[in-house]
Amino acid sequence: MAKHIAVYPGTFDPITNGHLDIIERGLRLFDGLVIAIAESPVKEPLFTVDERIRMVKEATKKYKNVKIESFNCLLIDYIHKKKANIILRGLRVISDFEYEFQMALTNRKLAPDIETVFMMTAEGYSYLSSRFIKEIARLGGRFDCFVPPNVAKMLKEKF
Ligand code: COA
Repeated sequence: MAKHIAVYPGTFDPITNGHLDIIERGLRLFDGLVIAIAESPVKEPLFTVDERIRMVKEATKKYKNVKIESFNCLLIDYIHKKKANIILRGLRVISDFEYEFQMALTNRKLAPDIETVFMMTAEGYSYLSSRFIKEIARLGGRFDCFVPPNVAKMLKEKF
């Protein structure tokens, strides 16, 4: 049987427990996952690409069949290069839907062979966002419950 490899793209600035929930559940559906870290310069990430690769590798080291890479081209071009055809995305709140719908349809128009699969984020993480976590960290609040321990350490070092 053909192996199904999905690409899970995102900025991961930083990776959160919500992302990890999608990764863990995604691995039950697919034979393997490529976590594709977008450089996303327009988002002016707090962490460099190398730091994000390092943090995602450490946070996912217990999972088999996970590969971590970065990319700075069109997502569909990257997916074609990987010879994959599935994009995995998490849906949190209703407001995600419009943006995700737009992105999925644009990607489908550009590359009809690539399918986007959505997974509902576990309800405990449906409100989480990397931006809020960074803000809490910057303002001295507690954020350990939102991110894996290695990310909490890196956030403490940044601020
Ligand atoms: N749990 C918790 N939070 C989650 C989450 C989950 N399961 N899934 C997403 N998020 C949060 C992230 O923390 C992030 O929060 P922030 O905006 O406060 O930083 C937000 O949701 C969205 O982030 P992410 O999922 O990383 O997506 P993104 O919008 O940063 O990245 C790309 C989207 C990288 C997939 C998209 O921009 C892309 O494909 N870029 C490549 C260029 C391209 O092809 N462009 C054309 C697209 S049509």
